[in-house]
Amino acid sequence: MRIAIIGSGHVGLVTGACLAEKGHEVLCTDSNEEKIKTLQSGKLPIYEPGLEELVRKNVAAKRLSFSTSTEEAVAFAVPLFICVGTPTLASGAPELYYVEKVAKDVAQLLTEYKLIVDKSTVPVMTGARVRETIERYSKGEVPFDVASCPEFLREGSAIQDTLHPDRIIIGADTDRARALLQEIFEPFGACAIVTDISSAELIKHASNSFLAMKISFINAVSRICDVTGADVEEVARGMGLDPRIGEAFLRAGIGYGGYCFPKDVLAFGHISEQLGINFPLLPATHEINREQLDFFVEKIKQEIWVLRGKTLGMWGLSFKPNTDDVRESPALRLAEKLISEGANVRAYDPAAGEIVKKTHPDIQVVGDKYEALDGADALVIATDWSEFAEADLAEVKKRLILPTIFDGRNLLDPEKVRKAGLTCHGVGRGRPK
Ligand code: UDX
Repeated sequence: MRIAIIGSGHVGLVTGACLAEKGHEVLCTDSNEEKIKTLQSGKLPIYEPGLEELVRKNVAAKRLSFSTSTEEAVAFAVPLFICVGTPTLASGAPELYYVEKVAKDVAQLLTEYKLIVDKSTVPVMTGARVRETIERYSKGEVPFDVASCPEFLREGSAIQDTLHPDRIIIGADTDRARALLQEIFEPFGACAIVTDISSAELIKHASNSFLAMKISFINAVSRICDVTGADVEEVARGMGLDPRIGEAFLRAGIGYGGYCFPKDVLAFGHISEQLGINFPLLPATHEINREQLDFFVEKIKQEIWVLRGKTLGMWGLSFKPNTDDVRESPALRLAEKLISEGANVRAYDPAAGEIVKKTHPDIQVVGDKYEALDGADALVIATDWSEFAEADLAEVKKRLILPTIFDGRNLLDPEKVRKAGLTCHGVGRGRPK
């Protein structure tokens, strides 16, 4: 089937490439000319493992193409997927300007039936607003449907998550819309939940907020572990064996980041408040996440005392491994905090280094993990890239001034670190023996 994607960011591009991979003919559009030029020249504007090959393969097979024109998108296909950004406003509410703009643009271009599918993460009731907008601006003469089809892809494993999803959520309220979406997603072979639009919208916000809440929960537990000498890794393992709890997303650390969790927790809190629903778990989740970094900085100070004039080698800048994304990155916020207290930060990241060099000239970004330790008093691990877990600890010890590691992701085996003659301060693992 022909499908148009409006908004070719992480979600739009991955969705478009994966729909093409499953045999659909896809046109990805974006108003950013630079981005479309990059894509048309065979390059990618973002880093996502496997995406470049997938795009190249499907462009060559003539199933995937790019354009800056929404007009072309509307003329190209019946299903139009909205994949534009919904960044956070100062109030915590998501910016819905771009979603509304697409609805207005599509309305003015409507000449025959279209299915407008929202894939951007939006608050419940946005589908109803999109419908109302299209009705208003199209003058109500052409038939159309609105649907919600949230995505659950994780950066770094987005292709795998999209090609082999746990579930597909189809929120639609007409048979025509439901049938079209079922046909589109049939080749993915996943369990499909077919529901109303508001439920689909809520599934997305509730899922992301729940996962963020799990992380904040274990991070709060980690603070109790720090005080009592218990080991949060053991606590999480013991909890996770209960299938009602599950082991996923119980890794304590310096907190969650990225484009989704921080934004979605705030947005879900905001819409709940607007609806008059008291949902204190959401602000608490956000607050614990914010404080987690302060606790970690305090831990560093407890050990090495004054930060001013000290140099900290930092491993990791991206918000999680296998991505160059530093949006809301706890690692980057940690570096900023340390610098604001007078420390120097020498950082290495396998993917995000070049980006941070441009945005944060006060962080000394180097091209190798061991080089980050030269002249450093101690090492801070801020992102759990696997290459850090495999590091040569003898080399680490040789380069550091003090034999001290602050492991903000509980990545290293404390026993191995101890045997290498280093002291490892993790998160929620008590004081090192
Ligand atoms: C998330 C959701 O997982 C995905 O389903 C959704 O559609 C988009 O948002 P993503 O932001 O790519 O995906 O990253 P994810 O792997 O979920 O990690 C988010 C953050 O939580 C990272 O900063 C990560 O380091 C942190 N995290 C994750 C923890 O601190 N502990 C954990 O146990 C798991």
